[in-house]
Amino acid sequence: MYVSDCIDINSQGHLTIGGCDTTHIAKEFGTPVYVMDEDEIRKNCRKFVESINEYYGGNGMALYASKAFCCKEICRIMAQEGMGLDVVSGGELFTATSVGFPAERIYFHGNNKTSAELKQAIDYGVGKIIVDNILELETLNELASAAGKKEKIIMRIKPGIDAHTHEFIKTGQIDSKFGFALETGEAMEGVLKAVSMPNIELVGLHCHIGSQIFDLDPFELAARVMLDFMAEIKQATGLELSELNLGGGFGIKYKKTDRPRPFKDYMKKVSEVINEYSKKLKLKTPSILVEPGRAIVGAAGLTLYTVGSVKSIPDVRTYISVDGGMGDNPRYILYQSNYEIICANRAAEKRSATVTVAGKFCESGDIIQEWTHVQPVKTGDILAVLSTGAYNYSMASHYNRIGRPPVVMVKGGEPRIIIRGDSYEDIIMNDI
Ligand code: LLP
Repeated sequence: MYVSDCIDINSQGHLTIGGCDTTHIAKEFGTPVYVMDEDEIRKNCRKFVESINEYYGGNGMALYASKAFCCKEICRIMAQEGMGLDVVSGGELFTATSVGFPAERIYFHGNNKTSAELKQAIDYGVGKIIVDNILELETLNELASAAGKKEKIIMRIKPGIDAHTHEFIKTGQIDSKFGFALETGEAMEGVLKAVSMPNIELVGLHCHIGSQIFDLDPFELAARVMLDFMAEIKQATGLELSELNLGGGFGIKYKKTDRPRPFKDYMKKVSEVINEYSKKLKLKTPSILVEPGRAIVGAAGLTLYTVGSVKSIPDVRTYISVDGGMGDNPRYILYQSNYEIICANRAAEKRSATVTVAGKFCESGDIIQEWTHVQPVKTGDILAVLSTGAYNYSMASHYNRIGRPPVVMVKGGEPRIIIRGDSYEDIIMNDI
């Protein structure tokens, strides 16, 4: 009803997620607490898998971008749902390998992977390494040679499309630290180098044009730019690449007014474009990979807080302070991100108050939302911030030595802890 199908209000007027009363979760696990709905996460995975089957004959794979929310349980769920995994660090890879995530479905990203991380990936036998630059290419070739292996790689390309702008633009020279530039010839130089290396097998190209994108056109344009480059590679080297990875960035609902397109619309459109355009360029149609992060977990999660002090400053504003803040959700201080906030124990009442919800961290910018509409709340009420499933726990910190909250997963109306909250002992664990 609000921003996600898994959110509702029960007969007591309490907010529910996945059929669980959020006020009961707050009581049982304390606050702050992140809550995620397993069925919603699985449903989101299936939308991606089924769309690839329906519109592209199953010739592809959806990789969950684990930077959105990475832990052992989410890796287990992704493995069960037939998803691949996009990891960007040794730590994310370690989390996946610790639950035996199928190696061939792991894709290793990053613009500055260390030799140790590359070796870790080679040793586990990850499916593909997404190579970002020439130095990485050279290091990887040496490490693969030492391990007696030939590494399958995908090259990350800057397609020159900036979808972060309101009206997306195609720029000549995109300013980004990620990937090989097309227009300077750097990308072709990388390709020629890769095909000459004995321990490297170049199998595809990758691009990622941004996040929280609602429009289909930039994705379509990116697919064309990449296919054009595949045709150039074929002409220059005779090599036909078999994989096209178009990255993530599919928008979700943070506010009621957000209107994300269903993924099947994207897949339908992009499949048509790739089928037609690769035929025109006389290329074999490549398999498609996509890397949704936010679209899998974002709207499947919320955070519960308890209201502490309420400070009304006449003619200025009302601050509602909660028992968490920028340590568990740094997205407002970083990006002024929008969220819907609901008083969980009085969810059916009208949201008639306009307040600023602040955290408890020692910093004036520690705010979760400004000038937001919420039920008239008082000390002791439970506030739910919706759509916090992505880039909240994964970007959380120990600032002010305040521990990260636990993560509770709900399934079939039953909650269970999937990540424990930090204790004070955890906080001093590495101090000497
Ligand atoms: N693939 C690549 C190569 C990426 O760089 C990203 C996100 C994704 C996939 C997943 O994008 P998604 O589908 O989740 O939008 N911390 C920010 C987002 C940074 C995302 C960086 N890369 C946030 O809180 O919104």
